[in-house]
Amino acid sequence: MKRTLPQLLLPATFFPGHDQNRMSREGDVARARAEFIAAGTENVRALLRQRLGWMDAHIRPDDIVVELGCGAGLTEFFVNGAPIMATDVRPYPWTAACVDALHLPFAPNSVDVFICVNMIHHLAVPTAFLDTLLTCLRPGGRLLIHEPNPSVAMLLALRLMRHEGWSFAVDAFDPAVAANDPADPWSGNNAISALLFGDLARFSRRFPAFTVLFDRYSEFLLFPLSGGVTAKTAVPVLPRAVLGAVAALDRMLCWLAPSVFAMGRSIALEKRA
Ligand SMILES: C[S@@+](CC[C@H](N)C(=O)[O-])C[C@H]1O[C@@H](n2cnc3c(N)ncnc32)[C@H](O)[C@@H]1O
Repeated sequence: MKRTLPQLLLPATFFPGHDQNRMSREGDVARARAEFIAAGTENVRALLRQRLGWMDAHIRPDDIVVELGCGAGLTEFFVNGAPIMATDVRPYPWTAACVDALHLPFAPNSVDVFICVNMIHHLAVPTAFLDTLLTCLRPGGRLLIHEPNPSVAMLLALRLMRHEGWSFAVDAFDPAVAANDPADPWSGNNAISALLFGDLARFSRRFPAFTVLFDRYSEFLLFPLSGGVTAKTAVPVLPRAVLGAVAALDRMLCWLAPSVFAMGRSIALEKRA
């Protein structure tokens, strides 16, 4: 596969241990949710508006919508097109059910929309997940994804903060290869979006049932300025107008040079009818 700029500049694999994480409160989703509801900063809101706001365009009011790997469960505050059944592999008071994305309990053709935000890069075998999901998704149903994008900026941020890792050395299309630690739901391979969607022709050959409806790079400065959604680092709280200007700058830079700047990628896939 053709190597991208980040792969040329940085090591192919980097997996720091959890004890090396320089962000605080990794995995403390209960505290992240409580703090967001009580006093969520405009920085986090600006990030989540950009990260999630596009999803409503792919949701109809009577759709059955299931979120997988909801973590702190903040999607419901930014996506209002239909009620969301929030689920996670771990049980939380705000989840409707405890669901392992690799063993989906839904009937064939029963779900209109699945939402996965920063979840797929935690799965050991993402293609097995997509196969199972396709069975549960009804024809014409959508999978709305947001994932980290392994740009130079993202990999440098990971290298600095040691929050999660990446590996370009795995073949994400080989079901026998684990993309990260299968026993650890918080082990993340931030290269997954590039490995799965970097070559969309390869993705379409493996998953001919999916059509790509939407594909956008985002989040350069907004992500670090958010201070993190669950794991946290200290940042100055900025007014909405300043964050609006940052979002506009981000949009331009991510459009100009996604492999340098974009820390996120949003993709909507539709199951062919
Ligand atoms: C980085 S967090 C993202 C949480 C939330 N979606 C967000 O964007 O803030 C990843 C989440 O995926 C969940 N997860 C990991 N493996 C999973 C699996 N096999 N099935 C469902 N959820 C999983 C974790 O428990 C965690 O809540």
